[in-house]
Amino acid sequence: MSTQPPVIAIDGPSSSGKGTVASKVAERLGWNLLDSGALYRGVAWAALQRGIALDDDAALASMTRQLVFDIKPGSIHIDNADVTQAIREEPISVGSSRVARLGPVRDALRIVQTGMRRPPGLVADGRDMGTVVFPSAELKVFLDASVEERARRRHKQLIDKGSNVSLSDLFASLGARDERDRSRPVSPLRADDDAVMIDTTSMSISAVVDEVLRHAVQRSLTGGGAKSGT
Ligand code: C5P
Repeated sequence: MSTQPPVIAIDGPSSSGKGTVASKVAERLGWNLLDSGALYRGVAWAALQRGIALDDDAALASMTRQLVFDIKPGSIHIDNADVTQAIREEPISVGSSRVARLGPVRDALRIVQTGMRRPPGLVADGRDMGTVVFPSAELKVFLDASVEERARRRHKQLIDKGSNVSLSDLFASLGARDERDRSRPVSPLRADDDAVMIDTTSMSISAVVDEVLRHAVQRSLTGGGAKSGT
């Protein structure tokens, strides 16, 4: 039996709902949360700040190894700069999937990610949480939704934040980002063989959270039960 704190790995494509679901599951269980996408976004942000081209593989790798991440619930700092909001901008979304194709960048970030496996447990969301970073995760979930629904969700998020990006532009960039994530040779986005598959296209967030918690209970991960939802 593993002596390490348990992990629930939640993977899936962009805007499949995994970020929101992971944070609610972590809250209900009282566990730690890892939004691994924020790290890749942070690398893209840092590269743009420093004027490092996103095709300069060597410079990106060496920069990533030197970054100091400070991840707290609801905030992320890089080298003491609060980047919580800045990394959510659309150019950073696009840049993050470009830096994510690099093995050395992924290796450096893997050290940060595994360091977050702390008691009482970790809910980790991303693309390769179940396949590469936490292959021994006690529960692996793969969330998916149609690309139309995912573009619509992301569009609403950005419009609510005051951005005026068009739905058709977003549809195209989301599709391109998915394609890069699925087809890269290193740690491509894919469901592990033992992952629970959930199609969230016509499900509410709370229904998805309940479904994930149901699997957690089945695997005796809740240690006396989750807090009830609000
Ligand atoms: O999840 P999010 O959309 O914030 O992730 C941004 C990008 O970071 C993804 O498009 C993907 O290229 C990359 N990523 C990754 N592996 C992870 C998490 C994110 O490659 N575990």
